[in-house]
Amino acid sequence: MRYYMTSLPDYKNDPEAYEIEERSRPDEMLMLEVAGEMAIESLENIHNVAVLDLCCGTGLSLERIINHPNISCAVGVDICQPYLDFAKIKYKQHRLKPTFILGDAVSVRLPREQWDVIMLASAYHHIEHERKVEFLNRVHYLLDNSGYAIIAENVLPEYEESNTKEYAHAVKQFYTEVLNTAKQQNPNLPDYVANLIKRVAQYGYDGDYEYKVSLSLLLKDLAKARLQIVTQKRVWPKDESKLGKTGGNYVFKVCCL
Ligand SMILES: C[S@@+](CC[C@H](N)C(=O)[O-])C[C@H]1O[C@@H](n2cnc3c(N)ncnc32)[C@H](O)[C@@H]1O
Repeated sequence: MRYYMTSLPDYKNDPEAYEIEERSRPDEMLMLEVAGEMAIESLENIHNVAVLDLCCGTGLSLERIINHPNISCAVGVDICQPYLDFAKIKYKQHRLKPTFILGDAVSVRLPREQWDVIMLASAYHHIEHERKVEFLNRVHYLLDNSGYAIIAENVLPEYEESNTKEYAHAVKQFYTEVLNTAKQQNPNLPDYVANLIKRVAQYGYDGDYEYKVSLSLLLKDLAKARLQIVTQKRVWPKDESKLGKTGGNYVFKVCCL
């Protein structure tokens, strides 16, 4: 489904464009900030913490936690080599340099089997629908008994699962609000940046690279993977007027059932 007729710039495989798009979005920055706070709260009382960031991208989701003195090992996994190259440079000067591994988050071989904290920031919605539960099952398998996964997710307003029109409408509602929020923060948002944000929406309409779901579907998948929610916060938008009762950006802290 083509919603935007102009040819839009792309951020896939382009780390600079991805970072510009993300950092221009207050909804994303807030979500990453709260995810960072929840991760830090989870590792406060343990030492030699091992952190795994699945679908780590350019390393944005590690930025707020990597300097914590309790972390002794950090690994990021992504399927995009240019993003990982960018992330490696970002962390070159850090006390603890994460190891970045190129691979599929669902099946990649990892240097250890148990992790204290697993970050999944905009990760679940990048995994195809048919592999989502397998992905969460793997998170369950990799999570230490006393560990937590921090899930930061863009959640669409509710729609009927097999209704493609309703799904496209939910994507449209979501990204209209994302753009409105970005323009409220920066009334001079450059067209290039607005178009990068529209490109994310276009991937959603096309059912390619972006596989977002509603809250009810996400909760069902967590239950199937026996991941129990310890904390659930909707961090954006401020009220229910635009995306209904359940649409928006969430951060969940989950543990193994
Ligand atoms: C929206 S970005 C999130 C990046 C980072 N976590 C953040 O919060 O900025 C999603 C990332 O998932 C990666 N990705 C998509 N499918 C993947 C897969 N099967 N295995 C590993 N990474 C994947 C993409 O390359 C992209 O970097």
